[in-house]
Amino acid sequence: VRLEAEQVKAYREKGYLLLPNVFSDTAIERLNGQLPPLLADDSPRRVLERDGNTVRSLYGCHLDNEVFQSFTRHPAVLEPAAQLLEQTAYVYQFKINIKAAFTGDVWQWHQDLIYWVREDGLPGPHILNVVVFLDDVTEVNGPMFVVPGSQARGIIETPPIEAPPQERRSPYAGKPAWITNLIASIKYAIDKDTLASMIRGHGIESIKGPKGSVLIFDACLVHSSPPNLSPFDRRMMFLSYNGTKNIPVPTGERRPDFIVSRDHRALVPAVDPRFDQL
Ligand code: SIN
Ligand code: MN
Repeated sequence: VRLEAEQVKAYREKGYLLLPNVFSDTAIERLNGQLPPLLADDSPRRVLERDGNTVRSLYGCHLDNEVFQSFTRHPAVLEPAAQLLEQTAYVYQFKINIKAAFTGDVWQWHQDLIYWVREDGLPGPHILNVVVFLDDVTEVNGPMFVVPGSQARGIIETPPIEAPPQERRSPYAGKPAWITNLIASIKYAIDKDTLASMIRGHGIESIKGPKGSVLIFDACLVHSSPPNLSPFDRRMMFLSYNGTKNIPVPTGERRPDFIVSRDHRALVPAVDPRFDQL
């Protein structure tokens, strides 16, 4: 699955590309059908919302779930990633953000690359996100907000913010420091003045589409998402593909393998008929 020159140009300019209706409802149901046992499993890969009860994210599902593992090699997601990275790729990080009906909480404005460089020792920017919509994403269920063109600035130097006192209470009390990067108070949130001037210049777009749509976005794109006040879940699968020439060189303590995958072998695209396309 090769992107057209026009699509590559749009991606380089805006920092993202939305491909509506890539996967069939059957394919998406196959993926969603894997979720109940993962949601029920009390494991560190499962991150909860502040209520200590609702699941916010599931990490590393591709490591031992054969369906998700196979999906990461699907040509419709892997090939555009490798094409845009201009090298072979592997899954650096896998997560499903649930953004549950009524309770799914905010993601503050941030860039992804700053985490991967500062926390994991990623050498360069040859990494991107491919997001698969597991539900219809509309204006009411907490769509992603992006600042188009913001990726062109590269990393915006942001001082680390320590987790506020409420995050040190249950359910995160006593948990390792890295976990606060995964919950609603994040470490490298971009400051309001920087955001205001950037957004005056570039605006904000909200990224919406039917389930089965695919969003590809640059690791430096400034993005966020509001809470979900609707009765509809907003599940999204985030596949962060890294170039195989861009292997991290960790300096400090390494984050767990279910956050940063250490299997650096290039993925080979493989068609799996369970994931039919439209
Ligand atoms: C993210 O920034 O990694 C997640 C954003 C979202 O799920 O809305
Ligand atoms: Mn992000």
